[in-house]
Amino acid sequence: ERWAEGSAHAKTILLGEHAVVYGRPAIAFPVTSLTLVAHARSTDGGLSLDTPYHHGAVAGDDSLSSPREERLAEAALRHTLDHLGRQHHGVDVTVTGRIPAARGLGSSAAVASAIASAVARLEGVWLSYEERFELVQFVERIAHGTPSGLDAHATMAEGPIIFERGTARPLPHKGVPPLVVADTGVAGHTAAAVAGVRARRERDASGVDARLDAIAALVEGALDELRSRDYVGLGERMNACHSILSELGVSSPELDALVSAARNAGALGAKLTGGGQGGCIIALAPRATDVPELVAALSAAGATGAWPVTDKEAA
Ligand code: PMV
Repeated sequence: ERWAEGSAHAKTILLGEHAVVYGRPAIAFPVTSLTLVAHARSTDGGLSLDTPYHHGAVAGDDSLSSPREERLAEAALRHTLDHLGRQHHGVDVTVTGRIPAARGLGSSAAVASAIASAVARLEGVWLSYEERFELVQFVERIAHGTPSGLDAHATMAEGPIIFERGTARPLPHKGVPPLVVADTGVAGHTAAAVAGVRARRERDASGVDARLDAIAALVEGALDELRSRDYVGLGERMNACHSILSELGVSSPELDALVSAARNAGALGAKLTGGGQGGCIIALAPRATDVPELVAALSAAGATGAWPVTDKEAA
């Protein structure tokens, strides 16, 4: 029996969500503590697919129950086989692991990337970076219309990236700041949030563009602070970014509550991350040794999950 595996991790956006849709830069980190593994096996015929996203697949964890993610996984499987010209091959794919769905963590991109890698390997085909990127973007377009490409790049990156106008570059400096991602437990609505910003921009182009430019300036300045490990400065930028995102209408009471809880627990900065209107926040602890306490404080404040941000080197 032939089989092969592929894996992909979650991502989190440090700064730049929404502005990135309008050509501004964004910085994203891999979250290697949240990973999906796809196991592909050849069969006599037909396709079968099992993912952690069907209801009750993971006992006691409803954050994984997502019919949408199931549909996206199936689209990824069919589209990968089409791309490889193996539409008629029998394949059985089982995806395991956990990345909460619809939380701005890039679960749909990760599902697509893991399945595409596993199936290509099973078929003995080496996918170039661009081919894998396009397979993931195909699924991202089904998920939310006009994805910037940030998620697809971030789920394939080994370390932090800066993304601008369709191009992703690795950040030059090693090491991830002491960041924590925490889940409100409320599903985010990236497509609706992106549409909301667009509608606001139609009413008030100069007001919205000024805010998008302000986010871009926060991203540019953060590059220096990441290099020099000026985490006080970086935290202030995260706080400023959350205010701007709130003005753009993409925060929510639950996100604001977790952001406040993080700051009260000593975080140097905190903001929503990803599409917003639900989903996750990202918070910066003063030092790596403060991360467990921040994780505990966010859980106590009602976060349904909280994870340190680590890259491949740290993991
Ligand atoms: O997929 P999410 O929720 O992390 O959102 C992606 C970030 C946005 O900038 C809001 C949308 C995009 O396509 O980049």
